Amino acid sequence: MVTQKTINRQAGLSIKDQVSSLLGRMTLDEKIGQMTQVDQRAVEPSDVTRFSLGSALSGGGSNPSPNNPRNWAEMVSRLQEAALNTRLGIPLVYGVDAVHGHSNVVGATIFPHNIGLGATRDPDLVERVARATALEMSATGVYWDFAPCVAVPQDLRWGRTYEGFSQDPDLVADLGSAYVRGLQNTSEFGSPGTVLACPKHFLGDGGTTWGTTQHADWLFDNEQAADYRYKIDQGDVQLSETQLRNIHLTPYIAAINAGARSIMVSFSSWNGVKSHANHHLLTGVLKSELGFTGFLVSDWGAIDQLDADYYQCVVTSINAGLDMIMVPFEYQRFISNLQDALENGDVSPDRIDDAVRRILTVKFELELFKRKIADEPSLNIVGSENHRSLAREAVRKSLVLLKNDQNLIPLDKNIARIIIAGSAADSIGLQCGGWTIEWQGGRGNITSGTSLLDSIYQTVSTETSVHFDEFGNFSQGIQAEVGIVCLHEIPYAEGVGDRADLSLTSDDIDLIQRVGTRCQQLVVIIFSGRPLVITNQLPLAEAWVAAWLPGTEAQGITDVIFGDYPPQGKLPYNWPRSGFQPNHGLERVGTGDIAPLFPFGYGLR
Ligand code: BGC
Ligand code: BGC
Repeated sequence: MVTQKTINRQAGLSIKDQVSSLLGRMTLDEKIGQMTQVDQRAVEPSDVTRFSLGSALSGGGSNPSPNNPRNWAEMVSRLQEAALNTRLGIPLVYGVDAVHGHSNVVGATIFPHNIGLGATRDPDLVERVARATALEMSATGVYWDFAPCVAVPQDLRWGRTYEGFSQDPDLVADLGSAYVRGLQNTSEFGSPGTVLACPKHFLGDGGTTWGTTQHADWLFDNEQAADYRYKIDQGDVQLSETQLRNIHLTPYIAAINAGARSIMVSFSSWNGVKSHANHHLLTGVLKSELGFTGFLVSDWGAIDQLDADYYQCVVTSINAGLDMIMVPFEYQRFISNLQDALENGDVSPDRIDDAVRRILTVKFELELFKRKIADEPSLNIVGSENHRSLAREAVRKSLVLLKNDQNLIPLDKNIARIIIAGSAADSIGLQCGGWTIEWQGGRGNITSGTSLLDSIYQTVSTETSVHFDEFGNFSQGIQAEVGIVCLHEIPYAEGVGDRADLSLTSDDIDLIQRVGTRCQQLVVIIFSGRPLVITNQLPLAEAWVAAWLPGTEAQGITDVIFGDYPPQGKLPYNWPRSGFQPNHGLERVGTGDIAPLFPFGYGLR
């Protein structure tokens, strides 16, 4: 056995030759195994060995129990060891959505979601954030990040708006490519602490039209479908090819130039054709025209939506150009259907070889054959002080000051009394949003960090009396110089966050009014995955701050509101003036049908 495994690292051979030599020794079943990606919940280590699986993942919330860095490292290495026990010992590549830090892991540093990074306009900062994320990931043996999301969201009602850096393709291209460089440390890709980037979702995920999401009826029973909230996520992009390219392809060109070696395909359709079935986009544009030689991975169970007949799903997606399928559960069904397709001549052996060659090439580039188990001997880097202070810097640079009458901000640290309201002021979960520990995020102390309330306590003088009440019910007689109301969106991910009406809730408005009567001046801080409609409420407070979904380090907020640093964030999206009117033209970001309340690029200094 040992002699066979040494073929993996034949000294002096180019990667190309090593791949060819390995490919030449593989059986068809071993090749199909490389193309198969399974969620860790669905697989035992012995099955990884038995089916020679090429990849495993943790979808959002697919965590070990208890969830901590050590158990992550053990969970991943158990599967990796099983892969190394196969006949050829080809390591698997383990993927996660570390979309704002290693964000499934309790104790990891959670950075602002991309919308906040977009507000910083700072590629160097974004690169450093991605670098830190890669270090925390590789400490746990995870070498593939399903990030950056380089969507160019054109409709704020989309539940994934916050995963996009901006509505502006050039800004997404700049920051997305910085993110790729940070994860991969491009010149030293494959060295310890580097991970494979995976720009997503190709192509046009941010350009779908409200109301066009198709619910594949064979996948849902009627009751489920009625409850399925997706309204624009996974919908149809209705654009000409020129528009599609100008808006949505731009960031991929930049990401490939920055060294991206894997790309995830989008659930969405373009003029009625699902991306997973689109040979023109996947093989024509991406692989032939742009010369992309890395590999394409499907999205979560996305091929299942192509046809009621699973065999057809497999044939269509592989022939369109998909190289690896994120199955993610019933992998034996995928494997046997692909075996049948080969036997029937519906998929050619050349297509399989091309897919496997691409996957193996990237595995060699990533030096997986050498790195195998976790790089970092110490797990202390996960959530380390250095990374938390980097996150704090990112938060500070992401804040957008929308209104500041009477120069209320900066607040005085020696203020006599301050009242604070809103559950989000004391909730790491609400500060972080979706894709944090669980797929849909959570509330309260879901991981370690500093809440806004804690950071206010740490910032004001010991003489200051600080009163916090979630609902703004302060004891009679309390009258403060300054009040802070912290608003939030309930955490969400993907289409669960598709929302027709982005107005504040009546509870939000009551809270602002109630607290306003108990203080001389009021600051409203919003934690949200997108601009909310605040036009009518704006006069109720002297200062308004968009803090996006800042993550675990809220001291970045107090750094700015108490004047240690100037506000510097700029809006990455237009801030809409009014709600969306379903039957009148959409107020789409970027098209300027209705003048925004605050335009793209706005932000008080
Ligand atoms: C999302 C992807 C994600 C994948 C794995 C999908 O539902 O669309 O962005 O990478 O799940 O969690
Ligand atoms: C997974 C996510 C995935 C989603 C797609 C969830 O169960 O944990 O990662 O994106 O399903 O529907």
